[in-house]
Amino acid sequence: MKQQLENIRQQALASLEAAASPSELEELRVKWLGKKGELTAVLKMMGKLSPEERPIMGQMANSVRAEIEAKLEEAKAAIGAKVLEAKLAAEAIDVTVPGEEVTLGHQHPMNMVLQQVKDIFVGMGYTVVDGPEVELASYNFTRLNIEEGHPSRDRSDTFYFTDDDSILLRTQTSPMQIRFMEAHKPPLCMLAPGRVFRKDEADATHSPMFHQIEGLVVDEHITMGDLKGALVAIMKQIYGEDSEMRFRPHHFPFTEPSCEMDMQCHKCHGTGEVDGNVCSTCHGEGWIELLGAGMVHPEVLRNCGIDPEKYSGFAFGMGLERMAMGRMRINDLRLIFDNDVRFLNQF
Ligand code: PHE
Repeated sequence: MKQQLENIRQQALASLEAAASPSELEELRVKWLGKKGELTAVLKMMGKLSPEERPIMGQMANSVRAEIEAKLEEAKAAIGAKVLEAKLAAEAIDVTVPGEEVTLGHQHPMNMVLQQVKDIFVGMGYTVVDGPEVELASYNFTRLNIEEGHPSRDRSDTFYFTDDDSILLRTQTSPMQIRFMEAHKPPLCMLAPGRVFRKDEADATHSPMFHQIEGLVVDEHITMGDLKGALVAIMKQIYGEDSEMRFRPHHFPFTEPSCEMDMQCHKCHGTGEVDGNVCSTCHGEGWIELLGAGMVHPEVLRNCGIDPEKYSGFAFGMGLERMAMGRMRINDLRLIFDNDVRFLNQF
């Protein structure tokens, strides 16, 4: 029995010495000291000893137990320290390693130009308003003095929702003139940017969805001179003092007289040619049409309950994409809607 205890002592101490993990230690504790462990098994045989031997063996068993327990604590502490050390090494953070670069987005070039245009007009006292993209034909056409049968009402030009052609995707922001004059009485000064939709094939200067910015000013004694002055002032702020623009007579059913304003082509500088080829940006025109404008037709004022004998006004509708193209020197309208980051990152 003495020999058995001595074996347990030696084997237990050696195994504890070799243990490498907390779970291994726990296994060894159960093996040597547990209720069904080796030491308990020896102690169970104590009954068979003579009364003289019993206390001696008991004492020896206790000292073996104490030694194993002490060794167990020691091993536990050593392994704990090692595990902590390994964990610290694995989780170490090198604060001197350069961080990953965070790429920040920015406004889309269209929004940049829109923001600039809005800022300029707000500075001139205009109120910026928003309106529905799904519009009634009465606002988009009829009350703007565009009669039944007018070519712009054709199903080949306009997206209609209903068989009776009464609801549509607005083809222009001009219905906002009616909506604003319905709700406000002169003097009034409004700017209404938004999406418009036409059945156009996409090319370098056309898209079935594009943006317009509608402007409307109504007061006593408003003249074509006010219209021209306002538009020239705005364009010079956007394109620079030395930018070239021209006004051409035109016709719109809701303005009289009407005009269009062109901006000299930024690609060919008005020559219509690039390297001996027809300029693709202005199709050889040398000019890019930017907006339609005119004096609000008396019929339109009347349709909104405003007396054309007392009040007059001007209105304009400009193409935001066209403006952005000139401002940012973009040659193809489709790039604006492609959302290719290689393109967008240039702005
Ligand atoms: N709505 C016209 C267009 O889309 C532009 C315009 C607006 C013309 C206001 C005159 C007055 O072409």
